[in-house]
Amino acid sequence: MSSRREFLKKTGLASSLAFMGFSAFSASPKKLSLTIKNSPVVISTWRFGMPANMVAMKVLYNDGRALDAVEQGVRVPEADPAVTSVGYGGLPDFSGRVTLDACIMDETGNCGSVAFLQNIKHPISVARKVMEDTEHVMLVGQGALQFAIGNGFKKDVLLTKGAEKAFLEHKNAIKKAKYDEIKRSQEEDHDTIGMLALDKNGNLSGACTTSGLAWKMHGRVGDSPIIGAGLFVDNEVGAATATGRGEAVIKTSGAFLVVELMRMGKSPQEACEIAVQRIIDKQADHKDFQVGFLALNKKGETGAFAIKKGFQFALHNGSENKLIDSEFKI
Ligand code: GLY
Repeated sequence: MSSRREFLKKTGLASSLAFMGFSAFSASPKKLSLTIKNSPVVISTWRFGMPANMVAMKVLYNDGRALDAVEQGVRVPEADPAVTSVGYGGLPDFSGRVTLDACIMDETGNCGSVAFLQNIKHPISVARKVMEDTEHVMLVGQGALQFAIGNGFKKDVLLTKGAEKAFLEHKNAIKKAKYDEIKRSQEEDHDTIGMLALDKNGNLSGACTTSGLAWKMHGRVGDSPIIGAGLFVDNEVGAATATGRGEAVIKTSGAFLVVELMRMGKSPQEACEIAVQRIIDKQADHKDFQVGFLALNKKGETGAFAIKKGFQFALHNGSENKLIDSEFKI
């Protein structure tokens, strides 16, 4: 090892530079050259985006692809039983079954998706398998389950004791509660993780995964597995993801709309604000639900906006990971 390298190693400067997005020392011991690459960025929805971002950013620090970062990142809440709106531990549908939706999209525009999938802890990885190993984009229900098992995924019971208890309490409450109260409790238990990442090579990818609306109709699918609604990535422009009432996001092709607005020259923040305004203008019942959008462009600039107060997102800019309160409209 050259003395220059030894010095950098001892001082920790080498890892600090790698952390900041600088890479690769020159092979020549006489000449030190640094290649400046893009500083990686990860943005994701809600508080549980914080630990997910840390895992994703580790992939990016190690020169990994944005695609690997988002898959590894969202697997964190998928496996966490304390997160009751994603993966294992997710609140069930009206029949007491946990059904999961997820999708993933890479820098080439390739994408994969699963919907109404049961008994598989990591739907995001099944979605990636659909993307990489089939000529299709989306598999649903029993077909998605058979595909997952055929590809080595293990069947799991996803309904935790806590989620089952909440389900039974909800069923009891229904007997007494008014329809409005039931709807409100659905919204409160309803938080998708959407994650967008920019890697050191300047490539974008995204992932989105959820157990969907708590107590939903059996068979209901939201926006999260729908490319263009819950997630969209165009590597020339930017990426966007959505959280909240899936029906409202589908009706506006939300994530696609945000990316198209960025293509037309809007900043990520402006794009998210216009998309929220579109929902408000077109959907008279918008006061009854929440929708939040996140956006990330090729330059690493980010945006976030929601209909109502309360939406939070986690942003890791390469040097720090922060939980931020989103701006909102009403
Ligand atoms: N946004 C997730 C869902 O509506 O299912």
